[in-house]
Amino acid sequence: MKIGLLTGGGDCPGLNAVIRAVVKKSIFQHDHQVVGILEGWRGLLEEGYIQEMGLERVSGILHRGGTILKTSRTNPYKEKNGERRIIQNMRKWGIDALVAVGGEDTLGVAARLCSKVKIVGVPKTIDNDIYGTDYTFGFDTAVNIAMEAIDRIHTTAESHNRVMVIEVMGRHTGWIAVEAGIAGGADLVLIPEKSVDMDKICNVIQKRHGRGKDFSIVVVAEGAKIPMRAKEEEKLVVQNAAKDAFGHARLGGIGKVLASEIEKRTGIETRFVILGYIQRGGTPTAFDRLLGTRFGVAAVDFINKGYFGKMTSLQGNKIVPIDLSEVVSKAKFVNDELYNISEIFFG
Ligand code: F6P
Repeated sequence: MKIGLLTGGGDCPGLNAVIRAVVKKSIFQHDHQVVGILEGWRGLLEEGYIQEMGLERVSGILHRGGTILKTSRTNPYKEKNGERRIIQNMRKWGIDALVAVGGEDTLGVAARLCSKVKIVGVPKTIDNDIYGTDYTFGFDTAVNIAMEAIDRIHTTAESHNRVMVIEVMGRHTGWIAVEAGIAGGADLVLIPEKSVDMDKICNVIQKRHGRGKDFSIVVVAEGAKIPMRAKEEEKLVVQNAAKDAFGHARLGGIGKVLASEIEKRTGIETRFVILGYIQRGGTPTAFDRLLGTRFGVAAVDFINKGYFGKMTSLQGNKIVPIDLSEVVSKAKFVNDELYNISEIFFG
């Protein structure tokens, strides 16, 4: 069998572990051939984006961040005859089954295509917001990077008697903010799932400073919408008006807005840091290498068993198949149980 393999959407630590696992399992345990498709869905639309994946190609990549197959946010459903071109190219190149590794957008395309071609999805995103899987790989690395940043910012906040606002990634959900916030000892965590207005934010900080503390750490997810006043409309802070091929705005900047408002209202010197792509780059943690490897192995197992139109998912400590159609119909939000734990330490 000839397996096509692509990685789409934002990169994330652990992608190379999946690629290596798909290739090695296919070659060592089965008679499958693997071809890599470069730059996500773009590689299935154009000529010249396909390459053989032998053992040499995946040698020494397990610990490397990013994806050796490269990635893009190409949406084939926004391209002329996109779906038809993908089906034709897969036929032309003799690809029997496809492994699509990606987040909500890549898996959304896979869910639409899966009635026409044989596809297995593998969930990836540092945001951890894919429905149906307890974790996505990349998330653990991002949380550890954010936690380390919070630790470092703590000492400078303390030395200068400042409020420090740390903006982390998380477009629709606040998983990184909550987990890194709890692990790093944040005094306030703001996430898209919970609306907290500026008055409340400043109250928490003032109360904390009123009991003798002279610095505060605020962690905010980039997708948090903060009303400046109670009952005011919530708005996302975006970098510019442009949207990507899946209709997403480029987020970033809520930390800056928040910091200047906190300083204005409380009179306490406030600074902000946007962690941005640092959370997505570099070497994956052991957890992410292991999960990526397990997902890659499972993807080949699913193909062998004919589990198409499914995604590999972690449920408890087992890897199980779940329908792609179900996965893309929902998102996975931070649950109250976890958020309430972070809230205990506010102020
Ligand atoms: O989807 C993961 C993510 O890291 C989001 O948290 C973030 O908004 C987005 O990717 C940024 O992606 P891009 O690489 O397109 O700027």
